[in-house]
Amino acid sequence: MENILKDFNNQLSKAQNQNEIEKVRVQFLGKKSFITENMKTLPNLSAEKRGQLGKDLNSLKLTFQEAINKKVDNLEMAAKFTPIDVSRPGKPLYKESRTGHMHPSSLVLKETYRVFTELGFAIVDSPEIEDDWHNFEALNMPEIHPAREMQDTFYIDKSNKKLLPRTHTSGMQVRFMKQNNPPFKIIVPGKVFRNENEDATHSWTFGQIEGLVVGEGVSVTDLRGTLLEIVKKQLGPETEIRFRASYFPYTEPSMEIDAKFKGKWLELGGAGMVHPQVLINGGIDPEKYSGFAFGWGVERLAVIKYGITDLRELWRPKFDYLEQF
Ligand code: PHE
Repeated sequence: MENILKDFNNQLSKAQNQNEIEKVRVQFLGKKSFITENMKTLPNLSAEKRGQLGKDLNSLKLTFQEAINKKVDNLEMAAKFTPIDVSRPGKPLYKESRTGHMHPSSLVLKETYRVFTELGFAIVDSPEIEDDWHNFEALNMPEIHPAREMQDTFYIDKSNKKLLPRTHTSGMQVRFMKQNNPPFKIIVPGKVFRNENEDATHSWTFGQIEGLVVGEGVSVTDLRGTLLEIVKKQLGPETEIRFRASYFPYTEPSMEIDAKFKGKWLELGGAGMVHPQVLINGGIDPEKYSGFAFGWGVERLAVIKYGITDLRELWRPKFDYLEQF
């Protein structure tokens, strides 16, 4: 029986298709097979021998059948599945595969980096989670100051109100001053967070560009000249700007900047000369140095530049729309 089993395994392993497997089946389980022939002799044997041989033959028969079934299953499986070609291009996630394109906000940012670095500004990274001191106190907004209301915000921990998702990038002003000596010219791009109701022109999170220039003899003229140059480079050489008197606790004087683009005056952001107390908070001598700061919205600039009517379109995954810019 051992030899028969060996022979069977050998032949079955060589069988490549249904036909060849069938031949093996006939040979080892058919009418003229070893098993069938021996089964026939059983009635002539003594009860004891018959029991033993019957058992052995049955178990061998089962072994053959199982092995054959398994082989048939494997062949069927192999026929069903084509082998995987890992070098084939992946399945596109979106309708058909598309070439990627820059998001309008990214386009504006990229251009912002270019025009500012051309004027010698450095681009500075900054934390999105800020402490109360840098975001408010150091900018002349103590806890009771009404200017906080305008930026009414979320806190990380309501109970001690020490950390918050920053409400503006201005928190980086004093943070940077403490670590760097003037003169310097920086922009700080980044996300800010406010407790706002969303509409076509407002969102609870948006991008800002903060600008900070500190040096000896820096004046309002420098502020105006710099912003005019930037705006012309970003919106076109015919663009004009105007300042409207405004109020920020951390600049003196303070102003809103408007840009005239395609015949319309549009509000861009806030600006002013850095308040002496803010310089002091940053460890800078206001007798020796002066500076200007400004801040505007990344999306607002994209909206102005591309004529987008609803700011919220910028966050919707409508590729057909976004791809046009
Ligand atoms: N932080 C102000 C805002 O978020 C903008 C600003 C920046 C104003 C710098 C003055 C100076 O509205």
